[in-house]
Amino acid sequence: MGPLLPLSHTTPDGAKSYESEIPQFGLGVFLANGPDCKQAVLWALDAGYRHIDTARAYDNERQVGEAILESGIDRSEIFVTSKLRRFHAVGHEETIHRCKESLENLGLEYLDLFLVHAPPKDPYHRKPTWQGMEECLETGLVRAIGVSNYGAHHLDHMRSYARYLPSVNQFEVHPWLQRPGLRAATEAIGAIPEAYSPLARGKKLDDPVLSSIAKKIGASPAQVAIKWCLEQGCITIPKSTNKNRIEENLAALNLDISPVMAEISSLEDNFVSGWDPTAEP
Ligand code: A2P
Repeated sequence: MGPLLPLSHTTPDGAKSYESEIPQFGLGVFLANGPDCKQAVLWALDAGYRHIDTARAYDNERQVGEAILESGIDRSEIFVTSKLRRFHAVGHEETIHRCKESLENLGLEYLDLFLVHAPPKDPYHRKPTWQGMEECLETGLVRAIGVSNYGAHHLDHMRSYARYLPSVNQFEVHPWLQRPGLRAATEAIGAIPEAYSPLARGKKLDDPVLSSIAKKIGASPAQVAIKWCLEQGCITIPKSTNKNRIEENLAALNLDISPVMAEISSLEDNFVSGWDPTAEP
C-alpha cells in the first residue's frame, strides 16, 4: 500500500483541522468503464492498494462501490476519493446534494476525500460551492475536502473565503510536466499536491530517454515516472485496468531512483496530456 501522508485543512488562524491520513499511492479509474473498472478495483485491492480515486464524471462510482463491497475488506481500511462534477459546482445546496448522490452511487456512508473537480466556470460559484464542501466536511459526509485543477491564483483567492483551506490539490504532474510552481503554491496553503496522469496517459512511455533511464535501474518506464512523482511528495494515482500493470505500478514504491533523479528531471517538456483548467481566469 505504501506510506500514509497526513491530511489536514488550514483555518484562517493557521491551525490544522479535520486531520486524517491518505495513502500516498492509489489507483485512478478515469476512463475505466463499468465492468473493467470493477475488475480493476478488485485486482488492485487484492494486490494491496488501499486508495481508489474516482469521480462523478467518470460514470463508474457504482462499480467502485461494488468492488469495495465484494472485496470483503473493511470499509475503514480503504481510502475513497470522489469529485464534484464541474457543471454541478454551481452553489452551496447543489454541492451537498451531489455529494449525497456520489455516496449513494458508491453505496458508502462517507467519503475519505471529496474534491471540486475543476474551478467552477463561473467565478461567482466558487465561494458558495466551497461553502457547500465545508458543510459536507462539518456534517461528516466526508472526512476531507480539496480541489482539483486549481491554479495558484484560484488557490490564493480561496484565502478570502475559505474557513477550511483544501487538504489536497489534484492536477496533472509527471516528468514531462513537473509544475514546481503549482506544487509550491499548493503546499503554501497547507495542501498536498496530488498527481493525476502520472504516466501522461501512457503517451510518453515509449520516450527513448525514459527507456534508457529505466533500463539502467532495472525498472519499467511507467515505474520510473510513478516513483518520480512519489519522490516529489505527490500523492500519485496511476490508472490501469490491466492486472499485470496494476501490480507493476504498485511495485514502483520499492524502486530506488536516486541514481537517475537528475536525468528524469531533464525530461521536462511542458507536455499536457489531458486538459488544463489551471490557467483559466
Ligand atoms: P491500461 O489501463 O491498459 O493499463 P495515466 O495514469 O497517466 O492517466 O495513464 C493511464 C494510461 O497508461 C492508460 O492508458 C493505461 O493503460 C496505461 N498504463 C498504466 N500503467 C501502465 C504500465 N505500467 N505500462 C504501460 N502503460 C500503462
